[in-house]
Amino acid sequence: MFEQDISEILIGEDELKDKVKELGRIITRDYAGKEPVLIGVLKGAIMFISDLIRYIDLPITIDFMAISSYGASTRSSGVVKIIKDLDHSIQDKDVIIIEDIIDSGLTLSYLRKNLMERGPRSIKICTLLDKPERRMTDVKVDYVGFTIPDKFVVGYGLDYAEKYRNLPYIGVLKPEIYND
Ligand code: PRP
Ligand code: MN
Ligand code: MG
Repeated sequence: MFEQDISEILIGEDELKDKVKELGRIITRDYAGKEPVLIGVLKGAIMFISDLIRYIDLPITIDFMAISSYGASTRSSGVVKIIKDLDHSIQDKDVIIIEDIIDSGLTLSYLRKNLMERGPRSIKICTLLDKPERRMTDVKVDYVGFTIPDKFVVGYGLDYAEKYRNLPYIGVLKPEIYND
């Protein structure tokens, strides 16, 4: 279907599954006796959060926030927009933000600051992918699945112009597809 647009599979399905399981176990251990709220950042984090929660053996709750800074580009616009806010208060809660990728860091630094103002007991960040070469602002990340090189990746929730989110693996998009 999309295979002709992908130059390389960076992280395959089995590798993703093993890592997501491992992160689930670590979070379960770190939050023993607590009831964390996992906040999935829509839309990119959809697959990661839905797989991750299967491996967290705690009485968690989940909520979602939709923010966007990319639009139909491979670069962040730098302007972060809240499209959907949380349904519930996070006051006095242990919050774990679940992201698919940290690139420039602009989305997460905005989000962390925004959520901090709501009086949570704690906030940690869990990202499946980290692309440190492109960081424009410093973000403290607590849980990282994979550190990846500066290549434009799609799949497993990540899009280019809203496409490719349904690929079951993380693939590198051929530059001729986006060309910017
Ligand atoms: C992508 C990705 C992260 C963010 C990372 O979201 O899912 O949320 O960009 O980039 P940054 O560190 O440079 O801010 P996007 O804005 O494309 O929205 P989406 O999740 O709906 O695809
Ligand atoms: Mn996103
Ligand atoms: Mg996107």
